[in-house]
Amino acid sequence: MLCMDSISIRAPATTANLGAGFDVCGMALSEPFDEFTFSKSDAWHAANETAFIAATDEQKSVFGFVWNAMKQEFGLPGSLQISAKKGIQPSAGMGSSAAEASATAFAVNELFGLNLERSELVHWAGLGEGFTAGNPHYDNVAPCVLGGFTITYNTNPLKVKRLDAPKDLVCMLVVSEVTKPSTAFARSVLPEQVPRRDALVNCQYLSRLLVGFYENDVQTIVSGFGDAIVEPSRARAGGLPNFLQFKKLGDQHGFGTASSGAGPTLIAFGAEESPAFSDAVLDSFSRKGIRAKTIWTKPSALGVHAL
Ligand code: HSE
Repeated sequence: MLCMDSISIRAPATTANLGAGFDVCGMALSEPFDEFTFSKSDAWHAANETAFIAATDEQKSVFGFVWNAMKQEFGLPGSLQISAKKGIQPSAGMGSSAAEASATAFAVNELFGLNLERSELVHWAGLGEGFTAGNPHYDNVAPCVLGGFTITYNTNPLKVKRLDAPKDLVCMLVVSEVTKPSTAFARSVLPEQVPRRDALVNCQYLSRLLVGFYENDVQTIVSGFGDAIVEPSRARAGGLPNFLQFKKLGDQHGFGTASSGAGPTLIAFGAEESPAFSDAVLDSFSRKGIRAKTIWTKPSALGVHAL
């Protein structure tokens, strides 16, 4: 691999879980995305050029955590200079920290000529998720690194299956102006044990989702969005404002609906954009006094890549 001193990178937003695929399924989105420039440097210097807040301190950021883990493992010299242009709102459920972790792992691999496979970069990026959420999980970093729809079907050793998402699948993100409890909190409200009936319901939803992606069939994918375990617990804990109404509107307009990762962003999946659905969703948020916006986007086949 040819080493370089500087590299500019784009990392896509990602949506994790997709209903019943908690900590397993994820998908890369064409928008929004983050862009970064990483350079070799004698001393750590990282800055965020945008209004979105992103931690950049070497000891307290995803960037620094991934860099130091790779530096130690591979005996790398020097440090990094990072310039971040964040398009992904942090702490909203759209894979902001995964984008930072994936971009760092990708950049270090390129800058220092480590010749790591993309599947190995998922491991390094996953460490950064562990830094923010309390334990490593791969359902955002896997699609951020690999693109498409990913299934993390084993964690030790790490194994991820990547599938292309259908080209005609559309997604609508609903980003609301509510303060998000941390991902660690959103995980702390989940039940240790679940009724057998709920486990079966989730198995069926997840199976439908996986068959839909495997067969590239939008309608089967849309029918595969449901979750009797994680989303209801988070909604009860107040972490997914307006979730039940959003799901009801999704059913009425032919969209599959879910929380995007741990929320509070919600996401709908369908066959074509629907301004009527978007208007109805925004109206329902407005009636509850919650400011929100919708973003129409598509799956991204590309994961993190050099510009
Ligand atoms: N699978 C994770 C969760 C995604 O739902 O907690 C958020 O990082």
